[in-house]
Amino acid sequence: MTIAPRRPATAPQTPGVRHFPQEFTWGTATAAYQIEGAASAYGRTPSIWDTYAHTPGRVRNGDTGDVATDHYHRWREDVEIMADLGVSAYRFSLAWPRVQPTGRGPAVERGLDFYRALTDALLEKGIEPVVTLYHWDLPQELEDVGGWPGRATAGRFADYATLAARALGDRVKTWITLNEPWCSAFLGYASGVHAPGRTEPVAALRAAHHLNLAHGMAVQALRAELPARAETSITLNIHHVRALTESAEDLDAARRIDALANRVFTGPLLEGEYPADLLEDTRSLTDWSFVQDGDLATIHQPLDFLGVNYYTPTLVSAATGEGGHGSDGHGASEHSPWPGADGVAFHRPPGDTTAMGWAVDPSGLYDLLLRLKADQPGLPLMITENGAAFDDYVNPEGEVVDPERIAYLHGHLTAVHRAIEAGVDVRGYFLWSLLDNFEWGYGYSKRFGAVHVDYPTGTRTPKSSARWYAEVARTGALPA
Ligand code: NOJ
Repeated sequence: MTIAPRRPATAPQTPGVRHFPQEFTWGTATAAYQIEGAASAYGRTPSIWDTYAHTPGRVRNGDTGDVATDHYHRWREDVEIMADLGVSAYRFSLAWPRVQPTGRGPAVERGLDFYRALTDALLEKGIEPVVTLYHWDLPQELEDVGGWPGRATAGRFADYATLAARALGDRVKTWITLNEPWCSAFLGYASGVHAPGRTEPVAALRAAHHLNLAHGMAVQALRAELPARAETSITLNIHHVRALTESAEDLDAARRIDALANRVFTGPLLEGEYPADLLEDTRSLTDWSFVQDGDLATIHQPLDFLGVNYYTPTLVSAATGEGGHGSDGHGASEHSPWPGADGVAFHRPPGDTTAMGWAVDPSGLYDLLLRLKADQPGLPLMITENGAAFDDYVNPEGEVVDPERIAYLHGHLTAVHRAIEAGVDVRGYFLWSLLDNFEWGYGYSKRFGAVHVDYPTGTRTPKSSARWYAEVARTGALPA
């Protein structure tokens, strides 16, 4: 992906048709644990997600990533599918325990060979590889000595980034350090609905800081290894937080969730400091003394672009004892993923929902992009994930017909285009996901793919949305 300055959108030739800038990147995305399988090939050791998924009661139906979509063996077919779809980029993650099984020491060359072959095949088809270094599969051995709440994990991550850059830096230009560190920190260590399943609010705040630090150290490592080539970024699931009413109490609830969801990352990453209101809101839990001298400078690295994942907005109010469905859409747990934000109620936004129960609301994406432009002028943005789960099935004609997903993608791409028209520098869009896959705590029960996967046989069937997306990607034109 060439991160070139955005040219203005070409004037529409057909009324109502939205034309994206010529250099706009059209991609699809996946993550290692969700698709690869081959959980013990060539010395790969368990990650925290292997351990978690193999713990009874953690993942729906007892599903694990042991086989997943078997992408580890079927990757050639998957590259062919992408080439057929005509996408210009593919975002995937490296499995840390495949590359460096214990999270320490030298890389396993056989583990890296898988990614070398994959990236070569992508490049041969003219598909730009975009590598995420960490999509949640921490080597279990590193969790056993403290995991992300422990400071040492940040240093381990920088070493792993160096190994990855040395092995793949000749063919991969675009690097994303972390995927959605909010989930790693707060779902992993506070609500426990993600691996490693701990429910310790202070550990979650420590994890957030050490993830930030890991990002900064990894950017330094990537730039040291690849001075001429590396474009580096991080992907955040910025929550577009809305208050239920304009009351001071509801606005304050929105401010608190915005701090814990978003500004705990954007503060240090983009401004070089943690927001004062966040420190104040969490003061009864911690004095943040785990932030050491020099950390903020390390975290505050210039980024080539910011990766944004968006699915649905977040609607909150002050808790009054009534109203609010109590769920923030991140999975059921008696433990809150929001340390220090007691007294906030979550509401289901109006409108249709996807199979995840998430409201379909493209205006959240538009508003979020506009806010990012206002807060961070000059920072290019990339939609590194957007998509929807529906209850797709193969019909007797052998087709998967998914008009709801087409409508979802259409609505959200319209929002992206409107944002570009409003002057937001959005460089590209990655559909989540290329394939149906292991949807974390929901196992295989939720299907996000543009391509259907029949798990017993591994058979891939492009859904009608895949054909639709391919046409949009090919022409750069979004029909009315
Ligand atoms: C974001 C995560 O990065 C991805 O792994 C997940 O499958 C999607 N959201 C859908 O929940």
